[in-house]
Amino acid sequence: MREILKEAENKSAEQILTWALEKYGDKISMASSFGAEDVVLIDMLSKISDSPQIFTLDTGRLPQETYNLMEELSQRYNIKFKVYCPDSNDLEKMLQSYGPNLFYQSVELRKLCCQIRKVKPLNKALSDLNAWITGLRRSQSVTRASAKKVEYDQAHGLIKINPLADWSEKQVWDYIKKNKVPYNSLHDRGFPSIGCLPCTRATKPGEDIRAGRWWWENPNEKECGLHAETK
Ligand code: ADX
Ligand code: SF4
Repeated sequence: MREILKEAENKSAEQILTWALEKYGDKISMASSFGAEDVVLIDMLSKISDSPQIFTLDTGRLPQETYNLMEELSQRYNIKFKVYCPDSNDLEKMLQSYGPNLFYQSVELRKLCCQIRKVKPLNKALSDLNAWITGLRRSQSVTRASAKKVEYDQAHGLIKINPLADWSEKQVWDYIKKNKVPYNSLHDRGFPSIGCLPCTRATKPGEDIRAGRWWWENPNEKECGLHAETK
């Protein structure tokens, strides 16, 4: 396995996806939040497979533009995205205790919200899989600098595949334009990275691409628990 993980670093994104789909069959799925990297992967996957498995975690707080894009992609590629939602009992308890805007109160409450709206549904999504595919790139943030193209995801106990790990933001956009891939209209309004509506703002020229995510927090804490840092 160690050899495969090392060899993967020299392979292109399409080669890695082709290898991964062959190896893991129906036990592999892609996680999509419909960001720029994700639409690149959706386009690639739909060129490799007739029925790629792709899931999304619908936190219930996504921007309308993200839902619009999800429908557009679904029609364009003829894909039914698998949707995972937060547990309604968890949500009711959290909202009752801390109110709808708890994320602005403290890092702990922000992480609780991410735990209930994203991490628990992700655990459910991964429970029946042997591998998952994500749009992580090393240059996105300090917490992602050591992401590998193929790695063991210790936190979730399965293989994690990041085919775009070594891509630059420019490569992502060149691919989108060249292949005319639909993308989130918020990207044209100053949002390089898009998550939940209340936790995402537009960035100013010169700011880091993830500066608009949980902008009130320290950059070292800006992960929601979907992706553990790999060393
Ligand atoms: S986040 O952890 O800060 O929200 P980011 O938005 O950068 O992550 O996305 C990185 C990758 O995580 C995406 O390419 C996608 O694979 C996965 N991801 C993030 N949010 C979701 C979501 N809501 N549903 C499914 N996958 C997601
Ligand atoms: Fe909650 Fe914000 Fe995390 Fe979304 S990003 S799950 S709204 S804290």
